[in-house]
Amino acid sequence: MIKKAVIPAAGLGTRFLPQTKAQPKEMLPIIDTPTIQYVVQECVDSGIEDILIISGKGKRSIEDHFDKNFELETRLQEKKDEVLYTHLKHIENMANIHFIRQKELNGLGDAIYHARFHCEHEPFAVLLGDTIIDSVIPVTQQLIDSYEQYGQTVIAVETVPWENVSRYGITVGDNLSTKVIRLKELIEKPDRKNAPSNMAIAGRYILTPQIFRALEKTPRGKGNEIQLTDALQFLLKEEGIVATLIEGKRYDMGNKMDFLKTTVELALKRKEFSEEFEEFLRETIAKIDEERKNNPVKQKNF
Ligand code: G1P
Repeated sequence: MIKKAVIPAAGLGTRFLPQTKAQPKEMLPIIDTPTIQYVVQECVDSGIEDILIISGKGKRSIEDHFDKNFELETRLQEKKDEVLYTHLKHIENMANIHFIRQKELNGLGDAIYHARFHCEHEPFAVLLGDTIIDSVIPVTQQLIDSYEQYGQTVIAVETVPWENVSRYGITVGDNLSTKVIRLKELIEKPDRKNAPSNMAIAGRYILTPQIFRALEKTPRGKGNEIQLTDALQFLLKEEGIVATLIEGKRYDMGNKMDFLKTTVELALKRKEFSEEFEEFLRETIAKIDEERKNNPVKQKNF
């Protein structure tokens, strides 16, 4: 049984500046819902209600989001807006959420090390706070299923285009089944020419408390940071690690293009927007096609 999850959410979000200058990237909205709420929902949908968020400087709005907002609730009650009121109550009661601050940004491995007192006796899930995965079965549940079968550290993987391998932790291993791989090697963000595969770590993990001992031995790696991938490579030599190929579509919200695509794709899935928004998109494309026929391409930069 996996009962706890850790969500690292302390990163600076430099890929999304200037928006992330004073706002956490984990609060970037998908229409009206912050990214991290989707991540917390994935935990809850996977049966996990004890969540530790690794927060940091400038991340106070994450705490506020999951807290009670008395004034707003009173106002909604007065306005008899039952729908929004119920929604707000749902958010504050979603899970039992704790926070710890990472005071210095020393990498994902260091962020996870901050969970050692909370998770020292049991395996736990890790979900990166800026990544959402749209799937039928929550990806954390997919990993829990593998953990229950293999009883070892499990990491989510997916194939990525070769030109993108240097953005990810890359793994190599032998297939145990169509979906599960016994890992032989993990490398954090290799150059394309040194990458042994294009099987990338996809931002979800089931870790055992042994990871904390491995992290203590892990020197600074890529980007002069303590990398979780390097600690996992240590652990691999001591005990096995399996990787599960995820079934779902991953969106990295810290990346501007992914942010745009996510907004469009998820808006098309929302009942209240889908019809009108689809019509708008079709008209927009038709207009672009028409303009292209008549004029050379013009681009506006804001
Ligand atoms: C982190 C991990 C990397 C993983 C990636 C997935 O990198 O270190 O192994 O592939 O998340 O998004 P980051 O994107 O935080 O630099």
